[in-house]
Amino acid sequence: MIITYADIDGFRNLSGISFAPDPKYNIIVGKNAQGKTNLLEAMWILSGCRSFRGSKEKDYICLGGDRMSSKIKLQDSVRVQKIEFEMTRSAVSPKNIHLNGVKQKGTKSLFDVFKCIAFIPDDVDIIKGSPEKRRSFIDMAASQLNPVFVVHLNKHNAIMNQRNALLKDIGQGNSPASVLEIWDRQAAKEGTVISYMRNEYISKINEICGRLYRTISGGSEELELEYRSNVFRADDLSRAADADAEEMYYKKLRETSDYDIRTGSTHSGVNRDEVLIKINGMSAKDYASQGQIKSAALVMKLTQAEIFMKRSKDAPVVFLDDVMGELDENRQRFVLDMIKDMQVFLTTPNESALLPEIKGKLLHISEGKITDEKDDISSYRE
Ligand SMILES: Nc1ncnc2c1ncn2[C@@H]1O[C@H](COP(=O)(O)OP(=O)(O)O)[C@@H](O)[C@H]1O
Ligand SMILES: [Mg+2]
Repeated sequence: MIITYADIDGFRNLSGISFAPDPKYNIIVGKNAQGKTNLLEAMWILSGCRSFRGSKEKDYICLGGDRMSSKIKLQDSVRVQKIEFEMTRSAVSPKNIHLNGVKQKGTKSLFDVFKCIAFIPDDVDIIKGSPEKRRSFIDMAASQLNPVFVVHLNKHNAIMNQRNALLKDIGQGNSPASVLEIWDRQAAKEGTVISYMRNEYISKINEICGRLYRTISGGSEELELEYRSNVFRADDLSRAADADAEEMYYKKLRETSDYDIRTGSTHSGVNRDEVLIKINGMSAKDYASQGQIKSAALVMKLTQAEIFMKRSKDAPVVFLDDVMGELDENRQRFVLDMIKDMQVFLTTPNESALLPEIKGKLLHISEGKITDEKDDISSYRE
């Protein structure tokens, strides 16, 4: 799919942005803090995915301003769709989202409409950050493939919130410990589904990650992912997710419940899962070099793109924030080859750091505005 039109105003420092993107490369150039990343984020929020840099929706509106809007037209293999996201600071219901002119309850319904993949410098945290970063990467990527997953994750989240509140109540003597069992049964049900889904997704991407990493490293290095369920062993996960599996999960929850009550939080279950990422058999988090970490994070994202491509005839839109200019020529070529059939928006402070074959629309951004827009006529397109 491709974005054929974008119109952004009042989003962070951006004002009066309106342009018709190139179906292939869109190169956003500007000095630091001019609004390049903001421009990507303004489009990204229309995908129903969680924000780029963990930012809050209330920060979308320009400081000192009262409203923001971000609108795109999106062309896929079937039709053109229009997504609009508007927010007004002082209004009673501040958020207004429209899909093809029809008001939406939230951004969730956009998830199926606008598929995109972003690569931002913070993504190295997938490799070297806390286990939670890896869990959320896996969860988000798996959800994009199978939106049912989101339903289970949300249910499990809600159950955990209840359970953790209850743990505190019990700890203070306001509730009997026996009430916990009801929640543990429900947590076991959702948690089992999530464990199996995570396991399935990780084994699916393991093969692709391995192959891509081998290529990006010139055939010399191996990348491997391993799901470490907090509840199940690999053996268990190779069997069906049945009542026995749920019982096993339930027992695990019961095992730590005394400790949970003392500390007021849950210590077993999917919220304690780890995804081990290994390079040449060693934990990347602990042993990989900066370059290996960067490549591994890139490969995780490109894997997501490849799965997308296989699944649907509509390729996702790709956002590359300050990524290309930082890679050497070989790695840039590798990335380009991977995303050759996708529309790309990339930011860079320095266009000369890009490979010469990256030609398309050039947008210069300064103080939140497009100051220059150029279509490269010596285009790669036939
Ligand atoms: N809500 C907001 N209102 C106004 N300006 C904002 C808001 N949020 C961020 N900014 C400004 O946006 C600029 C950063 O933009 P960004 O897109 O990250 O820059 P870069 O071009 O380096 O990618 C900063 O100057 C920051 O102060
Ligand atoms: Mg930036």
